[in-house]
Amino acid sequence: MLDQAQRLRQMASGSKERNVAKSSPKIITVTSGKGGVGKSNFVVNLALTLQKNGKKVLIFDADVGMGNDDVLLGFMPKYNVFDIIFNHKDIEDVIVTGPYGVKLLPGGSGITRVNEITNIQRNAFLDKLSKLEDLDYIIMDTGAGVNRSVLGFIACSDELVIIITPEPTSIMDAYSLIKAVVHFKIKSKAKVVINRTLDKKEGQATFDKFSGAVKTFLKIDVDYLGSISEDRKLIEAVRNQKPFVVANPNCEAAQDILKISNKILGIKTESTGNSVQGLFKRIFNIFS
Ligand SMILES: Nc1ncnc2c1ncn2[C@@H]1O[C@H](COP(=O)(O)OP(=O)(O)OP(=O)(O)O)[C@@H](O)[C@H]1O
Ligand SMILES: [Mg+2]
Repeated sequence: MLDQAQRLRQMASGSKERNVAKSSPKIITVTSGKGGVGKSNFVVNLALTLQKNGKKVLIFDADVGMGNDDVLLGFMPKYNVFDIIFNHKDIEDVIVTGPYGVKLLPGGSGITRVNEITNIQRNAFLDKLSKLEDLDYIIMDTGAGVNRSVLGFIACSDELVIIITPEPTSIMDAYSLIKAVVHFKIKSKAKVVINRTLDKKEGQATFDKFSGAVKTFLKIDVDYLGSISEDRKLIEAVRNQKPFVVANPNCEAAQDILKISNKILGIKTESTGNSVQGLFKRIFNIFS
């Protein structure tokens, strides 16, 4: 565990020393303490909303072995990131393009094969990734919980967004996640989205409860990005495999995502200067 902590810290601090390239995309990692709280729906619909507003967005489905952003977008991709590495596929054949031109790099279920990658395969992959430089945002959808790969993805990103629902179990698990982030000194701030709220008041109250506990016991800044209403249209959209911002752009959840997207567009965070290649280089380091 100590080795791991040291490595995560090195990765995080290494990224600060990188030169900030103008064209480097901003990397947002979306995660949660508890599973099933709405990460994938948030990632897919936020990406679509940013793309609709003129940004170039790539979704990287980094949920190890369990990714389903493709299903939410109505795709059944033939290939995933491991076909690029092991089967000589071109990146264009693997990335699928969705509504408004949003891009998805499917993580597939073979991501644990990272351990098998040779240096030659790795370099060839990074070479292919350089074709992807023309991006404004990369949004990573991680699995839930506190584990090595999730903490690694957080360390590689410019912005950390934690999804919480008003349920006490979700708040508790998010607290544990933040505690690990602080313990390993991975990030000094995080943004919070409260999902499945019955009204705006519940969103603010949940955030206040969470940030109160965090500020009392942990050394990290947490900002409120907004809430997303409990919305039947979202459930329908999942069943129909059509993202709600496309199928129902006026539904409550879509309006909430639009507000959050506008907030993100207004945030002037310093990019860590990660090129797409730099990002994936460090992702490989997490697993090796
Ligand atoms: N705002 C909402 N309104 C109504 N239902 C919702 C909302 N957000 C999520 N859900 C329900 O929760 C389910 C799980 O959402 P999602 O797959 O996005 O969660 P997740 O955090 O990515 O899960 P996992 O941890 O398994 O990856 C959805 O299929 C939907 O039924
Ligand atoms: Mg998910």
